[in-house]
Amino acid sequence: MRNLLRDPLLNFKPYVAGKPIEEVRRQYNLTGRIAKLASNENPLGTSPLALKAMHEELETVSLYPDDHAWAYRNKVAKMYGVTMDNVFAGGGSVEILELVGLAFLTPNDNVVTSDRTFAAYHLAAAKMGAKCKLAEMTDGGYRYDLKALAAQIDSQTKVVFLANPTNPTGTWFTRDEFDELMAKIPQDVLVVYDSAYEEYCTASDMPDPMSHFRKGRRLLYLRTLSKVYGLAGVRIGYGVGPTDIIHGLMTCRFSFNTSRIAQAGAIAALDDEEFVARSREHNAKELDFLRAGLAKLPVTVPPSRTNFLLVDTAKKADWLFAELQKRGVIVRPMGGYGMPQAIRVSTGLREDNEAFLHHLGELLRS
Ligand SMILES: Cc1ncc(COP(=O)(O)O)c(C=O)c1O
Repeated sequence: MRNLLRDPLLNFKPYVAGKPIEEVRRQYNLTGRIAKLASNENPLGTSPLALKAMHEELETVSLYPDDHAWAYRNKVAKMYGVTMDNVFAGGGSVEILELVGLAFLTPNDNVVTSDRTFAAYHLAAAKMGAKCKLAEMTDGGYRYDLKALAAQIDSQTKVVFLANPTNPTGTWFTRDEFDELMAKIPQDVLVVYDSAYEEYCTASDMPDPMSHFRKGRRLLYLRTLSKVYGLAGVRIGYGVGPTDIIHGLMTCRFSFNTSRIAQAGAIAALDDEEFVARSREHNAKELDFLRAGLAKLPVTVPPSRTNFLLVDTAKKADWLFAELQKRGVIVRPMGGYGMPQAIRVSTGLREDNEAFLHHLGELLRS
């Protein structure tokens, strides 16, 4: 039989997402509380303003959404002092990353990113048959090395993907480091700056990616509403960038790519300062709590400006992952990121964080 798949997809390994609570409950026959600390979601739930707007929008779901997401894109445009033509509305930032691949990459191109960073970058390249050049991490193998990254760029590089802070290690690079990198990147290369965890880090030494966009650089600034706003389940994010890049994404997206519910929820969520402040405060407290608990265990935990911690251990991550699941705690094993002894844990409610520390402690002592 003829193989119908495109060549780049023949050996393609799809992204493995965090396990849903329902699946773990079924698999292990669990009846009690399950702590889902696997996907960096907001343990406080969803922005109340977004919830109200989404409830109201339910009345109109017999109608297709606004295909151009006019109100949402204009809201975002106002926030950054740009026009609607500079804003792309995506079904989460992952959709936008995929569209970057679809719109701009061919098997003759390469993309550059860091080793041990968000998997969607190399997957977006791989699907198009483009090569992905990875720079090794520095500082114990947990932090982007922007000098090493710049050294990977060559005449066939079309896109540089950066997550800051990065997932899964949680570390970050500073404004000075980023400005230095931008000076080394050729003007025609697209820099995708993925700021998924930005709301959790308010430190003043963080980069100002939009300042490079304003100087005319090809920079696509990605934001998601899946994390602090608690909208992961409706799939919504946005990208701000130059009109030629936004046009490329618009050309490749499918019609009505963001739903009515998602657009309504996102517009309302972006105004919910109280919820963001409350979530940020909760996160800071629980990140400290988790870190203090982990400090008593034989593990390495790199610094994090996100809502999760990478926990490097002396045990096999797959074993820890399975054993924690049996005990009602879902984390993420990091073997796929080249860290076979590390797990990633998101900040949860206090009782979930306590359960995680308790069970991890027992497993590490066993
Ligand atoms: C760095 C980074 N970018 C993007 C995403 C995905 O966000 P979305 O839910 O908007 O697709 C994640 C989620 O884990 C992430 O860690």
